[in-house]
Amino acid sequence: MDTKLRFAVAGIGGMGRAHIEGIRKNALAELAAVFDINEEFVKKCAAEFGLERYYTDFDEMLSKEDIDVVIVCTPDQVHRDYTVRSLRAGKHVLCEKPMAQTVEDCREMVKAADETGMKLMIGQVCRKAPGFLKAKELVDSGAIGELFFVESEYAHDYSRIPGKGGWQWRTDPVLLRHPVIGGGCHAIDLLRWIAGNPCEVFAYANHKMLPSWPVDDCTVAVMKFPKDVIGKVMCSVGCKRTYTMRTCLYGSKGTIICDNTSPDITVMREILDDGGNYLTTDTEKIPVDINNHNVASEIEELIDCVLHDRPVPTDGREGASTVAVGAAIVESAAKGDKVAVDYDF
Ligand SMILES: NC(=O)c1ccc[n+]([C@@H]2O[C@H](COP(=O)([O-])OP(=O)(O)OC[C@H]3O[C@@H](n4cnc5c(N)ncnc54)[C@H](O)[C@@H]3O)[C@@H](O)[C@H]2O)c1
Repeated sequence: MDTKLRFAVAGIGGMGRAHIEGIRKNALAELAAVFDINEEFVKKCAAEFGLERYYTDFDEMLSKEDIDVVIVCTPDQVHRDYTVRSLRAGKHVLCEKPMAQTVEDCREMVKAADETGMKLMIGQVCRKAPGFLKAKELVDSGAIGELFFVESEYAHDYSRIPGKGGWQWRTDPVLLRHPVIGGGCHAIDLLRWIAGNPCEVFAYANHKMLPSWPVDDCTVAVMKFPKDVIGKVMCSVGCKRTYTMRTCLYGSKGTIICDNTSPDITVMREILDDGGNYLTTDTEKIPVDINNHNVASEIEELIDCVLHDRPVPTDGREGASTVAVGAAIVESAAKGDKVAVDYDF
């Protein structure tokens, strides 16, 4: 293989720059173009990475540059627009999570991918975090027996994050980004990946920590997964602690406690004697790397899928399913009643 896939990055804030690093680390990828509505940011970024041109007009970039893949790292509210325009222009797309803010937007993105045959990958990056990969491997191998309860949380304090760059789009009262869909999607996607698609959710929410925000800042949802597994997702963006995604997976033979910010995961297992009598509960710490924004691994996977024409594991329907669960949680908290999740896309 002597040609590289040519990547454009749309939105060059924190995640856009992380993706640029991922492209630069990959021998089969090349950074071809950068786009952002903030001219100052994008001009500086192009100069930093040796690009002759920069773009503040997306269509101009698509028409002038030779691009194979667009990575969409813009605010969530415009993921659909840039993704659909890229797919319809014959580009593969890696779109940051959440796929979109609404299920309707996701449907349009899935339709564009289906109709064009271009690859659409959603950046559900928790599936690339070493601790979660190890936990999933253990569950799939039967190490903790049959799952019966799974829980995950997205615990963040957005009030402590400096208002640099375009960060304010997260709190815009008009753009209205709900933290359950915007950030809680990580915890939802993780549980879907491990336990399957929940059919029904019931949620409570409150709004005590970030009173100036346009939406609730803490939500707890319980849900029903396949095979009679029950689960819980907690999403708080105003809690007084350091960022983490503590996740507990309970099985008939053991329990896994893991997150994306610790150097190990904990596995507790019952030890029985030859006659099946209980001896003790063993606690093992398994060391893992900390890499909670492993976008390099996403880029590597997408390149492999494009070059070998393989289906993308976190495709549009996967991303849309996670948004659908988030939307059902928000609806349930507003209605005060359980909501069935609609996976029709
Ligand atoms: N995978 C993860 O763990 C993870 C972590 C953080 C953010 N994200 C997602 O990545 C995306 C970007 O987040 P971020 O933290 O980099 O945000 P950011 O605020 O750091 O950067 C956003 C960039 O988009 C630009 N922008 C704003 N409006 C635009 C528009 N209409 N068109 C084009 N560009 C526009 C801004 O100028 C800014 O440069 C979001 O979808 C976010 O949810 C994912």
